[in-house]
Amino acid sequence: MKRIAVLTSGGDAPGMNAAIRAVVRGAIYHKMEVFGIERGYEGLINGNIDKMEVCSVSDIMQRGGTCLKTARSKRFMTPEGFGKAVETLERYEIEGLVVIGGDGSYRGGLELAKAGKTVIGLPGTIDNDLVYTDFTIGFDTAVNTVLSAIGNIRDTSSSHERGTVIEVMGRRCGDIALYAGLTGGAESILIPEEPVDMDAICETLIQGKNRGKMHSVILRAEGVEISSEELAETITQRTGIDTKIVVLAYIQRGGSPTARDRMLASRMGYRAVELLLQEGMTSKAVGIKGDEIVSYDLEEALNMKKTHDKSLMNLAKILSI
Ligand code: F6P
Repeated sequence: MKRIAVLTSGGDAPGMNAAIRAVVRGAIYHKMEVFGIERGYEGLINGNIDKMEVCSVSDIMQRGGTCLKTARSKRFMTPEGFGKAVETLERYEIEGLVVIGGDGSYRGGLELAKAGKTVIGLPGTIDNDLVYTDFTIGFDTAVNTVLSAIGNIRDTSSSHERGTVIEVMGRRCGDIALYAGLTGGAESILIPEEPVDMDAICETLIQGKNRGKMHSVILRAEGVEISSEELAETITQRTGIDTKIVVLAYIQRGGSPTARDRMLASRMGYRAVELLLQEGMTSKAVGIKGDEIVSYDLEEALNMKKTHDKSLMNLAKILSI
């Protein structure tokens, strides 16, 4: 394989730049030509594609976001848009495409794979919602950003003796809430994978208040059935604790990637190149299991079913008594 391309798609994630750098430099090291496609599949449709050199990826490793920009392309899902995207790949004689993104981006990649293209998926999303990999690029940074916010909120909420519902991202996967909640000592964590037990939440808060706790943090993933507003109101009514709401939103998607995310992105980016160098390579999804970088058939990876491991939630409950 001599000519490859890379794009980022869907929500940006810290570490995407480190992944782009690893793909570009890894490819050039192995004497391949590498092209960057701007704005994900939208750019592929529009032909926003440029050759990248070693210096194209200088000074980006430490930056959040993606230097290739990103988009959620609706046009790619139409036969016309898809056809144009395939045309661009053919016009530039791209033999392998590296797609850095989450579930939706992978599904786009799978369509290209079905049309005979070789696609390597790198998991770039803060949500950690790709089932086949233990961790996605950007998740660790997002968790650390939420942790830092929890620290700030504790300062003010303990001064005012308040409770705070902190809403974090995660529509179908509660990992950001779970990891930040456990490591940030939240009194309650609400994730979409588990039903909401309002009695247990209020009981924990009342117990804490009776022991003289000055503040409480309730971490709620955005995909949870009860809204932050309803949650805060119910807590205030049932416990007497004045409860505010903080929605962290896009703050948790930006910022300089942690060492862990840069390492993951560098290892996975280079693995994408190694896969593309293999004779007769078919489309793959790169992931991490334990500390090992692994790869699966793209379709097989997307079809894996999520099993919710309750052990971390149980630990968080035990430690927040
Ligand atoms: O998939 C990443 C993510 O940040 C989700 O956590 C969130 O629900 C969504 O993207 C927000 O999407 P948008 O950037 O389109 O508002």
